[in-house]
Amino acid sequence: MPEFHAVAKVSEIAPGGVKHVEIGDDEIGIYNLAGEYYAIGDVCSHAYARLSEGDVYAKDGTVECPLHGAEFEIRTGKHLNFPATGPVPRYEVRVRGDDIEIAL
Ligand code: FES
Repeated sequence: MPEFHAVAKVSEIAPGGVKHVEIGDDEIGIYNLAGEYYAIGDVCSHAYARLSEGDVYAKDGTVECPLHGAEFEIRTGKHLNFPATGPVPRYEVRVRGDDIEIAL
């Protein structure tokens, strides 16, 4: 049974925005796509870069790695192009009141 952790407030992440959080050793990016929240691993699957520091294309639901430009689907963590060759993890998200919670 996954355990949910409150990691951010709803007011902290505007539509099209992202917040980096850390839970233990896990680095996670929480995204707001038109009022829906998604969480994916924040370390690029190619090398070490934080996806939350890249460009977010909310309309397409993608984020571009700031280091070499690989793109990932925010809703699934799936990689879309080279040089990434694998996805990043996706985490279940729920909103309870003002809290955004992530399942680990
Ligand atoms: S570190 Fe992200 S594409 Fe290279």
